[in-house]
Amino acid sequence: MKINEFTKFNSERISLNILKTTNVNDLFLLRSNNEIVKYVEKQKDATIKDSLLFLEKINAGIITNKWFYWGIYNNIDDKLIGTICLWQFNEAKTEAEIGFELLPTYQGKGFMSEAILPILNFAFKKLQLHKIIGFTHSKNTKSIKLLAKFGFKFDKKEGINSIYHLTNKTINTIS
Ligand SMILES: CC(C)(COP(=O)(O)OP(=O)(O)OC[C@H]1O[C@@H](n2cnc3c(N)ncnc32)[C@H](O)[C@@H]1OP(=O)(O)O)[C@@H](O)C(=O)NCCC(=O)NCCS
Repeated sequence: MKINEFTKFNSERISLNILKTTNVNDLFLLRSNNEIVKYVEKQKDATIKDSLLFLEKINAGIITNKWFYWGIYNNIDDKLIGTICLWQFNEAKTEAEIGFELLPTYQGKGFMSEAILPILNFAFKKLQLHKIIGFTHSKNTKSIKLLAKFGFKFDKKEGINSIYHLTNKTINTIS
């Protein structure tokens, strides 16, 4: 992986930027939503303080190139409507896992499809990753549909989860 500064992205309806303390209430909504955590193995935030601590941890990890983590902001009102990240880098920094979540009100409208495209391009072209992993609960049909739409191929099942991958060869067809 090439060392890179955090990159912001703008598209028609959304912008991708770091998590901001001004949006911590929205972050709490995301991180305490039952529907969002349904297929994701993570502890829900109980208080806004939890979300603030998470935000600080995430932004510290960006500075040290541990992961890349973007808030997805609605261009209309600058509301934080979701997040997308590249994390779980392998030691050689050639592979990473992609993670994403959207507030339920904003699902089914193509916001994540709009967000994922610049991140895949960033991963392959700027970070020069060879492979992106999609790790998802096998019943998480929305997540699987999104991965398939962007060319991720099924690898294998691991317990209740399914593992998909996308290589930099596939990205050329969608950029
Ligand atoms: C996974 C997740 C991000 C997918 O969200 P999503 O809203 O289905 O994905 P998109 O934003 O790309 O929207 C695609 C849907 O919007 C529709 N759509 C409407 N307008 C659209 C537009 N302008 N462009 C593209 N799609 C559009 C598509 O047809 C598609 O609907 P369909 O699934 O019924 O075919 C969401 O379900 C989520 O946050 N889940 C909880 C967290 C989670 O499980 N994360 C994954 C962990 S591995």
